[in-house]
Amino acid sequence: MIEIHEVSKRYDAGPPALVDLSLNVRAGETLAVLGPSGSGKSTLLNIIAGLDRPSAGSVVVDGVRVDSLGEAASARYRRAKIGLVFQFFNLLDDLTVVDNVLLPAQLAGMPRAKARARAGELLDHLGIGRLARAYPGRLSGGERQRVAVARALVNRPALLLADEPTGALDSASGAQVRELLVRLREDGQTILLVTHDVALAEACASRTIELVDGAITRDATAVAR
Ligand SMILES: Nc1ncnc2c1ncn2[C@@H]1O[C@H](COP(=O)(O)OP(=O)(O)O)[C@@H](O)[C@H]1O
Ligand SMILES: [Mg+2]
Repeated sequence: MIEIHEVSKRYDAGPPALVDLSLNVRAGETLAVLGPSGSGKSTLLNIIAGLDRPSAGSVVVDGVRVDSLGEAASARYRRAKIGLVFQFFNLLDDLTVVDNVLLPAQLAGMPRAKARARAGELLDHLGIGRLARAYPGRLSGGERQRVAVARALVNRPALLLADEPTGALDSASGAQVRELLVRLREDGQTILLVTHDVALAEACASRTIELVDGAITRDATAVAR
């Protein structure tokens, strides 16, 4: 699903964010990326998402060569293949929950009735069906993040990318998001989860890598679960 070959990323100032990093992720894996602040986790996620370009190396996701896409092609790639979840939800407060979830489907041109059915089914599956007509401003952090996950999944992405999805949540809300990720993993969703939270990685991931100074220092597949 993800083939990363000798990727490096240098910004203008400072040491390189990624150094000759190679990584393959199979369909159905839930990969947790751990590592200290500044170790390159978000840079890696952004490069896989086509939001940032590597300085060297190649990235192929679900058959798409991602590292050299132009802006329009990159946006198209994300719409077709990627679901993105960030620390701070990025929901639109003027839209209801269900309309937030419908947005990517509309952008992708999914027929309206089909999109509504899909959104309703997802919200139910994620345990927030009763919130469909609510506005995000009235929800708890955990509920908002579940809405953000539903939005990320509405187009059935090949790959779900989550960058510190519990980073802004209290422990009860974090637990809701953790359970949801476990559920998605059981559904067979391929997930790349960037997190500081070792317990979250242990609960969700089938495989964990650790980044230090832009290089992989550990790569471990979880034993039987
Ligand atoms: N847009 C940017 N411009 C310059 N340096 C950056 C930029 N984004 C990240 N960096 C640097 O790259 C390194 C890795 O950052 P990042 O990928 O955000 O790490 P992490 O997500 O593990 O905390 C850090 O040294 C950071 O300062
Ligand atoms: Mg980060």
